[in-house]
Amino acid sequence: MNQGLKGIVAAQTAISYIDGNKGHLVYRGFDAKKIALEFSFEEAAYLLWYGQKPNQAQLADLADALKSHRTLPGYLMDIIDTLPQDMDLMGVIRTAVSALGDASFEWMPTTEQAIKLTGIIPSIIAYRKRKLANKPYVAPNEELNHVANYLYMLTGEMPLPAHISALETYMILTLEHGMNASTFSARVTISTESDMASAVTSAIGTMKGPLHGGAPSGVTQMLNDIKSEERAEKWLREKIENGERLMGFGHRVYKTTDPRAEALREKAMEVSGQDKWLDLALHVEKLAAKLLAEYKPGRNLYANVEFYAAAVMRAIDMDDALFTPTFTASRVVGWSAHVIEQAEHNTIFRPNSEYIGHLPEFE
Ligand code: ACO
Repeated sequence: MNQGLKGIVAAQTAISYIDGNKGHLVYRGFDAKKIALEFSFEEAAYLLWYGQKPNQAQLADLADALKSHRTLPGYLMDIIDTLPQDMDLMGVIRTAVSALGDASFEWMPTTEQAIKLTGIIPSIIAYRKRKLANKPYVAPNEELNHVANYLYMLTGEMPLPAHISALETYMILTLEHGMNASTFSARVTISTESDMASAVTSAIGTMKGPLHGGAPSGVTQMLNDIKSEERAEKWLREKIENGERLMGFGHRVYKTTDPRAEALREKAMEVSGQDKWLDLALHVEKLAAKLLAEYKPGRNLYANVEFYAAAVMRAIDMDDALFTPTFTASRVVGWSAHVIEQAEHNTIFRPNSEYIGHLPEFE
C-alpha cells in the first residue's frame, strides 16, 4: 500500500515537470524561474493553457478575454454578501466559484471556461475583502493588466511597479506544480465527466489546508512568535521536539530547496530592502534546515515556496488573510490546464482501498 499515494504516477502530463533532487521546475518545456522573470502573468498563463508562447495578437486577445470577466455579476455579489462574516476567504471563493457553475460550464471543459474563472477570482477576493473592512467596491481598471488590477481592486490605489513585479513573480511561480493535492482533486472531479467549475471548486477546498496552500500564514505566525534571532533556536527546537511541523518547510517532491523559494527569496530581498522581519526569515530558514537535518536525518527538509511567499506578501503589504486566496488566484491556471488535459485523455480515477475492519461470516 502507498499511504498518501507517495511515488505513484497517476497520470501523464505535458504541462509541468519537477526534478525534486535538482530543484528544477519546468512549464511546458521552459524553466519556470526564467518564465517568472521574463514573462507577464498573461503570457505564462497562455503558455500553460495552449502549450506554446503567444504572439502579440494572441496575447492581446487573452488579456482582453481576462478583462471581460473581471466584473462580478449582481447575483454573485448577493451570494457573497449573505455568507457568514466569519467564513474565511477560501470558503468564500469556493462558494462563489461553485455558484458560477452555470450551463456554460457543462462538459467538456474548455480554455474559455478556464479564462472566465481566472479572470473573476481576483475580483471575488477583492470584493469580499473590502466589504468586510467596510470599504466601497472598487470597479476593475481596464488600463491595468491582470496582476496590477488585482492590487488595484484590493486597495483602490494605483499599485507601485515594484509591488506589481513582486506579485507577478509570485503568481507565475505558483501557477502550476504537477500532481499536487489540489490539482489531483481537480483531475479526480473532472474524471467523472463533471464540469470545470466543480473541478476547480474541489481544488479550492483542497488548497485551503495548512499542509498545502494554507501554510504561508503559518509562516508569518511562526516568525511573529519567534520575534528575534536570539529566540529562534530554542523556539524551533521545542517545536520539533514536540513533534510539530515547521510551516514552510518540507515537500513531497523537492528533496533540496524549492526553486520557487529561491526565486521568491531574491524577490523579497529586492522589494523589502533592509528589513528586520526579512533578516529574521533568512536566519530562520538556515537554522531550521540545520535543525531539521539534525532531528530528521535523511528526510531532506528545506524551505518550500510557502516560506518566502509569506515574505513577498508581507513586503507588498498583503495581509495574512490574502495569502492562500492569492495562491488560489494563480493556481487556477494550473488546475484548469490539468482539467482540460484530463478530459482529453480521460480515465475515471478509482483506486482501491485496503479493508482493515471485520468481515461477517458469509453463508
Ligand atoms: N517540520 C518538521 N518535520 C517535518 C516537516 C516539517 N515542516 N515536514 C516533514 N517533516 C517530517 C515528518 O514529521 C516526517 O518525520 P518522521 O519520518 O520522523 O515521521 C518526515 O519529515 C516525512 O514527513 P512526511 O509527512 O512523510 O512528508 P510528506 O512528503 O508527506 O509531507 C508536507 C510533505 C506535507 C509538505 C510536509 O513537509 C509538511 O507538512 N510541511 C509543513 C507544511 C507546509 O509547509 N506545507 C506547504 C507545502 S508547499 C505547497 O503545498 C504549496
